[in-house]
Amino acid sequence: MTAEWDPERYLGFAEQRERPFLELVARVPTDPAGLVVDLGCGPATTTAKLLARWPRARVLGVDSSPAMLARAARLAHPPRLSLLLADVTTWEPDEAPDVILANAVWQWVPGHAEVIERLAGRLAPGGSIAFQVPGNFDAPSHVLLRTLVADGRWALPPGPVREAPVLQPAGYLERLARLGLDADVWETTYLHVLRGEDPVLEWVRGTALRPLLAALDPDDAASLEAAYGEALREAYPPDGDGRTILPFRRIFAVGHRPA
Ligand SMILES: C[S@@+](CC[C@H](N)C(=O)[O-])C[C@H]1O[C@@H](n2cnc3c(N)ncnc32)[C@H](O)[C@@H]1O
Repeated sequence: MTAEWDPERYLGFAEQRERPFLELVARVPTDPAGLVVDLGCGPATTTAKLLARWPRARVLGVDSSPAMLARAARLAHPPRLSLLLADVTTWEPDEAPDVILANAVWQWVPGHAEVIERLAGRLAPGGSIAFQVPGNFDAPSHVLLRTLVADGRWALPPGPVREAPVLQPAGYLERLARLGLDADVWETTYLHVLRGEDPVLEWVRGTALRPLLAALDPDDAASLEAAYGEALREAYPPDGDGRTILPFRRIFAVGHRPA
């Protein structure tokens, strides 16, 4: 997925996107004094929260998006918070990390289960790998998009429409346990209360819709967005008080390597 991110648009829902990160980090049993890596750190607004949570650690944010890292740069504070432009598919740590985090990242990385296995093998004794992925690929927001794309009106390359890019919770549990890690896996469905006009369309503009629009010429992008916006309004109607409820399932996993 090569389309560039728009950090400001992504941060439009910072509060809703931050909560799963904090709930994930709260379950990490390691108290790191060495390296903590935040893979796919994005604008690093969440990464920066780790400095207070783990005051003895050095935090490294890794991301393959120049635009996201440019936004993250204002929060950099070496050696406590450093940033690195790299693809997590091939990136290797220079030292054994105490904690490896990846919040809302693996759904963008083909073959991510193998990457998790490789990086879990680099953990320091007593270290933890922790990640969160969306589990909402059967939700109307995704099904409607796949239906629109399948109708053939828009000439899209096959890549950007992803049917099931993540595993189910049991799949992650099984893989972490197979690596000899103590596994803690759970799921939550948040009921996000959104406001404003077409808030679900605005949400997906920052994520799933982005690579599709980038693959089309401006006229086609506008017509796809209009058709999708209409379908979303029907699927997620606002109530009489202007609130739109967006149910959002997320899957969490923590694997802890015994010391
Ligand atoms: C949905 S954002 C999550 C950002 C941040 N972790 C958060 O919770 O707000 C996904 C991030 O993963 C990054 N990403 C996707 N694929 C990547 C890869 N192969 N290597 C490094 N970063 C990647 C994107 O550039 C983007 O910044």
